[in-house]
Amino acid sequence: MNSTKTITVNASKSYDILVGKNLITDLGEIFIKRFDKCKVAIITDDIVDKLYSAVVERTLLEKGFSVVKFVFNNGEKSKNFDTYSQIVNFLSENELTRTDLVVALGGGVVGDIAGFSASTYLRGVKYVQIPTTLLSQIDSSVGGKTAIDLEAGKNLVGAFCQPELVVCDVQLLCSLDQKVLEDGFGEGAKYALLDKKVFDLIKDKDFSMQEFVYLCIDYKRQIVEADEFEKGNRKLLNLGHTIAHAIEKLSSFNLSHGKAVAIGLDFVLDSAFGKGRITKEQYEQIKSVLLNITKSVDKSLCPFSKKQICECAVFDKKRSGDYISVVNFYGVGDCRIEKIKIDNLLGQFI
Ligand code: GLY
Repeated sequence: MNSTKTITVNASKSYDILVGKNLITDLGEIFIKRFDKCKVAIITDDIVDKLYSAVVERTLLEKGFSVVKFVFNNGEKSKNFDTYSQIVNFLSENELTRTDLVVALGGGVVGDIAGFSASTYLRGVKYVQIPTTLLSQIDSSVGGKTAIDLEAGKNLVGAFCQPELVVCDVQLLCSLDQKVLEDGFGEGAKYALLDKKVFDLIKDKDFSMQEFVYLCIDYKRQIVEADEFEKGNRKLLNLGHTIAHAIEKLSSFNLSHGKAVAIGLDFVLDSAFGKGRITKEQYEQIKSVLLNITKSVDKSLCPFSKKQICECAVFDKKRSGDYISVVNFYGVGDCRIEKIKIDNLLGQFI
């Protein structure tokens, strides 16, 4: 039985997100139904390349696509101008045109830099996201944010550019390293606080991973459709992230993003209780549900003081003038974007 589910995103461009099992083995079939035969440039990293490139290449060649491939070193350190320049030069050397396709095969780093390359090369060529980690399936591959990093910080150069298609093969998650999976669940915990459907699903520890991925993406779909360019409610997706970005930076990026988000969420919940927005019982019940997916929802895992976090958070992208937008928690499915004065950031925690 084919249990693949399709989510259609109606943003500035409409596109489908497929959520199912063993999709990459059928990629040629999926592509031939949607795209004319063309040249496909696979952009991937060295770890993902060893695992999945061969099967992806084979299925595309079988359906008459031609394939070229660019591989770079795994990790955030590669998400820079140097790799970007190598990718766009590779596309040019291989004479990729606007009728061809870029395929981002990998986690968040691959998706961000391949997407940014596709959105700028020839002023934009079509690209497809094939996210291979939980974090990239539920978050970074959806919604068209593409970017590279600067010395000064993450994702400081980028573009909004929606893909043509996103293929989430949840079977790939079964072979993920435990640390990489845990990282994705940190971001997943954010969705559980934002959306009651996700929260209710994970109350049962034996929840279906496909349903989890589907519900997180479907929540993000609604947000992106309403606010593609992050002028308003898309900022809700930054729940826990002001603190997370500060913790990541203070740790010189040795702490993973998902873990930092999970820690950030515990600070947010703690503050909601401290400010009387939720009761102690609610705090404990919510936390115990989140602990079903990640043990990192625990502020005691944070090696930095609240003061250090605030001093670092002042440089957040979400700052405008003397104010910063933070997302506060009032209950599951009730999070609110609030502007506070930078000087009052420390007061957020208490
Ligand atoms: N990762 C948050 C967003 O896509 O808006």
